[in-house]
Amino acid sequence: MRALSSLLVLAALPAVLAVKREDFKTCSQAAFCRRGRALAERAGQNPDWKSPYSVDPASISIASDQSTLTASVASSLYPEIKFGLDVRVHKDGVVRVRMDEVDGKGRRYNEAASWALLAEPETSKDIHWTVGKKDVKATIGPKKDKLEIFVSFDPLVVKLYRDGREEVALNGLGLLHMEHFRTKEEPQPAVEGGTEAEGAQTVMKVPNPRAWFEGEEEDGYWEETWKSWTDSKPKGPQSLSLDISFPNHGHVYGIPQHATRLSLPTTSGQDAFYDDPYRLWNSDVFEYLSDSTMSLYGSIPVMYGHSKESTVGIFNAIASDTFIDVAHPDDHSSYTHWISESGILDIFILPGPKPADVFKQYTGLTGTQAMPAHWALGYHQCRWNYVSSSDIRAVQQRFDEDDFPVDVFWLDIEYAEEHKYFIWDHKTFPDPVEMTNDVAAIGRKMVAIIDPHFKRVESYPVYKEARDLGIITKVKDGQTDYEGWCWSGSSAWVDFFNPASWGWWKGLFKTVQTSSDKFSWTESTNDVHIWNDMNEPAIFNGPEISMPRDNIHHGGWEHRDIHNLHGMLYHNITAQAVRDRTDPPMRPFVLTRSFYAGSQRFGAMWTGDNLGTWEHMTVGVKMVLSLNIAGFSFSGSDVGGFFGNPEPEMLVRWYYVGVFSPFFRAHAHIDTKRREPYLLAEPYKSIVRDALRLRYSMLPIWYTAFRESSVNGMPVLRPHFVVFPEDEAGFAIDDQFFVGGSGLLVKPVTEKGVTEANVYLAEEQVYYDYFSAHAYRGAVKGKNITVPATLDKVPLLIRGGSVLATRERPRRSSPLMKYDPFTLTVALSTAGAARGELYLDDGISYSHEAGAFVWREFVAATNSKTVRIESRDLAREKPGEAVDGVALATYDEGNAFARDIQAVRVEKLVVLGLAAKPSSVNLAGGKELDWEYTAGVAAGASKEGVASRLVVKNPGATVAADWEIIVQL
Ligand code: GLC
Repeated sequence: MRALSSLLVLAALPAVLAVKREDFKTCSQAAFCRRGRALAERAGQNPDWKSPYSVDPASISIASDQSTLTASVASSLYPEIKFGLDVRVHKDGVVRVRMDEVDGKGRRYNEAASWALLAEPETSKDIHWTVGKKDVKATIGPKKDKLEIFVSFDPLVVKLYRDGREEVALNGLGLLHMEHFRTKEEPQPAVEGGTEAEGAQTVMKVPNPRAWFEGEEEDGYWEETWKSWTDSKPKGPQSLSLDISFPNHGHVYGIPQHATRLSLPTTSGQDAFYDDPYRLWNSDVFEYLSDSTMSLYGSIPVMYGHSKESTVGIFNAIASDTFIDVAHPDDHSSYTHWISESGILDIFILPGPKPADVFKQYTGLTGTQAMPAHWALGYHQCRWNYVSSSDIRAVQQRFDEDDFPVDVFWLDIEYAEEHKYFIWDHKTFPDPVEMTNDVAAIGRKMVAIIDPHFKRVESYPVYKEARDLGIITKVKDGQTDYEGWCWSGSSAWVDFFNPASWGWWKGLFKTVQTSSDKFSWTESTNDVHIWNDMNEPAIFNGPEISMPRDNIHHGGWEHRDIHNLHGMLYHNITAQAVRDRTDPPMRPFVLTRSFYAGSQRFGAMWTGDNLGTWEHMTVGVKMVLSLNIAGFSFSGSDVGGFFGNPEPEMLVRWYYVGVFSPFFRAHAHIDTKRREPYLLAEPYKSIVRDALRLRYSMLPIWYTAFRESSVNGMPVLRPHFVVFPEDEAGFAIDDQFFVGGSGLLVKPVTEKGVTEANVYLAEEQVYYDYFSAHAYRGAVKGKNITVPATLDKVPLLIRGGSVLATRERPRRSSPLMKYDPFTLTVALSTAGAARGELYLDDGISYSHEAGAFVWREFVAATNSKTVRIESRDLAREKPGEAVDGVALATYDEGNAFARDIQAVRVEKLVVLGLAAKPSSVNLAGGKELDWEYTAGVAAGASKEGVASRLVVKNPGATVAADWEIIVQL
């Protein structure tokens, strides 16, 4: 234990100061974090360290349905204070551990989970408890793959084992500290002391018997001053420290959002990579660093421990300021220390054992990625700002003249008169509805920004109505409306924790007047979707550019308790507002900057104000991967970088990063030069056009990946450890990734002057270059290959064994592709097989939830000299499963959507890697088809080179029907 605790001792290096770092606290500038880290340091130095918390065995009680254990916990330091422990096992094996102070002098915040969770999880019936002298054990599930939970009594430690292997431990290092509520005491009187012999007066302090654990000083217990702000702490100290260990996992991932690698570098222990812990405190960080543990705009407190043997995780449902130290004592274990300012202990242990299992468990709790509208996967053109309706029309015209596909034009804050959101500045936007209709005429949409700060002027109906309803966030007296400074000047913030705000907010988005005395956005149309920015909340004159922690929200909670939830609530209610403005409801698109666990249910996010630098482009890819594995797949970074003027080479590379981001938007700061793609000179302009067309051709692949994510929580972008969980060489790889389950492997270039790139292949399989069909060979133990990466080429490979469905006709916007024919590319594996999926629905409504969709599987198999390529109905193949609540057993192949697209053809079938020239190609039961064969390398051969290629034009197959094509070699 001693050796392990010492790993959490601070690395005593000076903090690196950089751009605006000084606006945000480090651990040593936040009293609760100082206290938490000092506790870890004392533990590390004390060989006899033992946690003072213990379970009273006499108090143990097990619920009659066996799902839950409750017990009393006490600290030997304060025997009179009581804590309640609750350990509950869910149906899927997730274990929830809760602890709170009972009958204390105050209430700890206990609602984070209720906002984050989709629903109250079902508990398990398959548990067996054994109460022993030293611990209580729960055995969960079947014998094979057995899960066990141990709750040790003295000290209190909770451990999860699988098949006898320790997977996760809470308080294994004894750093648990739930600071109980206390009464503020006057400072201890100093006792006069000293001896006459010393001839001097010395002052001797009363010894503090708890100092070994709590420290000598009451460090910032009752008030804290930082810069010009004083944080009053009427409830006193209430922080929560807890160590969470993954003793058999050498990598930890998760806890976005940080500008760092996917596999989290250490912050503690010898040779720590960073000095300061990872922080979760949603913040508007101007010009953020590209390599740092600083908190950014959102927080998802989910962390995964990964090793060859298993993947496990924890979700820590806490919404207050949280610092997390990470240490790896060796290559095989990870120790983390979580220090939060307030809140109960509410941890969900995700037992895995594979990446797909932890994703399912985590999204089972917090929900899966909302299925986006199809158009939202197209290209979004934004800048701060398109300054007028004529500007928007002119930009749209240029896109069309130069043949760049685009789906959405965006309006930043300057559309709104004096930044009063919803209120058009009619000097520049005299005809907002007509402008939107002009955009919508080509199937496109608009997105307008609605920030959560409301200008405090009587003439602004949104502010006035909120004020009159009494739903504005209050200052610490709980009575007075809080006033702060943001884009609109002196502003108020609606308290979205107050249910009284919800109906009112939804009413604002109605595009038809609903009530004569209430505002609704009649100068808008249902083609306008929404961007929620500054929702951390960002407040220019507030502490750390946000709200004072002692502000008061609904229910009497302090802002410090709920801060990290703030952005999610705003996003949630806005998404509901946009969804429900029509009847029947339509899928909303709402982009958020701030987020929490569960935000994926409400729309998309982007990584905020990045810089136009290669470093930011590089780290953006890693950040998006981290978000994807944390449940939030619909994410992306500003293409081009928000600040700065990217040189053409950088812009082109950034477009390819965007093409392979789930959310693809170009954006730019108001002070930057215009950089719409049509402004580029050749060859850059044509390269970007090709990049955009590539994205559009692959929309079916993206949509299918989103569909899978929305059903089972699998990330849309999958880093290597997700696809190859046992390949250690890939665990730290975060610059290449797979797109859904399609088999597309991409490595965007984020370096200047590059003409080649290395790609890691994890398996002995053939991978085809997407553009040239060059066949590369992987190896059993993994292999690095070099691929061309000139400016016009993104390294993009198809994993052998995949079938891709694409649409190759260039269009101006994605809705225009609705009835376009498909190209199927069958990339044979070394064994001559392949498989792929295609999911389609109307892309805008919720009719898919009632079964209006098409879900196909394409399968190729080689049997001696015959290759059969089949199209099957996947819904029919999986009758036992339910998708979106639709039991596939009742799935109707003749549903309205399927009928709508029944004439949509497969216009081209491409087969890569056939072993020989076919002698015939037939549609089963039909005539010989038109085909062309180019000789080349076979999938199963060992040599590299351009693969053989069979192209069948117009095979006479439709995309939603069953068929079989037989290739006779
Ligand atoms: C914030 C946003 C940025 C936006 C700007 C003006 O900085 O992050 O995207 O353009 O505000 O609204």
